[in-house]
Amino acid sequence: MFADLSDAPPDPILGMAQLFAADPDPRKVDLGIGVYKDDKGDVIVLDTVKKAEQWLVETQASKRYLSSAGNPEYNDRIRALLLPEGSDAHARARTIQTPGGTGALRVAGDFIHRLRPGGRIFLPDPTWANHPALFKAAGVEIVTYPYYDVETGRLRFDDMIAALGALTANDTLLVHGCCHNPSGTDPDTDQWNAIADVLAKTGAMPLVDLAYLGFGDGLEEDRAGINILAAKLPQMIVASSCSKNFALYRERTGALTLVGGTPKQGEAAVGHLLPVVRANYSMPPDHGAAIVAHILGDAALRGEWEIELTGMRTRIQDVRRKLVEALDGRGGRDFSYLAGQNGMFALLGLPVSAVHRLRDTWHIYATDSGRANLAGLTMDNVEHVAEAFASVSQGG
Ligand code: LMR
Repeated sequence: MFADLSDAPPDPILGMAQLFAADPDPRKVDLGIGVYKDDKGDVIVLDTVKKAEQWLVETQASKRYLSSAGNPEYNDRIRALLLPEGSDAHARARTIQTPGGTGALRVAGDFIHRLRPGGRIFLPDPTWANHPALFKAAGVEIVTYPYYDVETGRLRFDDMIAALGALTANDTLLVHGCCHNPSGTDPDTDQWNAIADVLAKTGAMPLVDLAYLGFGDGLEEDRAGINILAAKLPQMIVASSCSKNFALYRERTGALTLVGGTPKQGEAAVGHLLPVVRANYSMPPDHGAAIVAHILGDAALRGEWEIELTGMRTRIQDVRRKLVEALDGRGGRDFSYLAGQNGMFALLGLPVSAVHRLRDTWHIYATDSGRANLAGLTMDNVEHVAEAFASVSQGG
């Protein structure tokens, strides 16, 4: 079985970490995998996470199995983080814990395939590099719809709405809830309403990938899109993640939220989701979820976490602005659009040859698609990065 295998190609995102680690140059800058880094370039553990871990060590009395839905306190608190308590959408929703946002998406893929065999999933162009592989593995047919114009740095909203006219009631529409990965460009309020209208008209299921809640404009602002959809539509699926906003990447802490037309429908839908989980990984790992449940359930810790989250968000906004200032007057591609985009990611609009020159000549690592994780910028490396971006965009 293994004898005829040639070397497998590296993952387009995860593979960057190995390339970066192998580069001995002291000027190297990692703009590859989507992790938040502080101004020293470190991927830190949040203070609130440390405190919750301490609490867990002191108080946890058992590691017995839980259900396939995972940690019930975590599920309730994530549901309230996404959909305001007291709202109709919150009442109609149920949340289960999953192994990261990726686990949530894969379970959603399997669930969709089981409930709607033959249904297609519409993915934005561009989208997260792992989306197509993930839904293909779940057996769901993939259709792409226009989303973002790399040349102009703008949403292709009219083209998108026109393409979504092809959705049917058997299909699923994947949208990014905020901080679109890889473009950093999100719909505004009117555009969310227009997306909701297309979904209402076609009867298609919205599946929202919400991996960056709190990294755009704030917790309230970043959940506005899903709340517009929930208010206008009888059903929705949300795959969310605590990887970035709690910096819990390797703890695999995510959630899948199903919103039904009524609370009973939401409950029934989760009942059909749990066998999908059981046949897949049985139940999610607890550690990250126990930490998040504790932070969100303790008023003082939650307040501290919100301050930490605000710190991460504003640092990214600051380095985005600083990069655009540092690019000013250097010529080459107009990168000014980078300052106003959301979250960690941006598309540089550079051909793959220029992305490779960034790596080989300047020791700056972005994915081959030209995606840069701007959370890897620091006040120390931003001038070097600006010089490199301007140079390679002029053929240098
Ligand atoms: C990314 O897009 O870089 C992150 O979501 C990490 C990953 O798993 O790809």
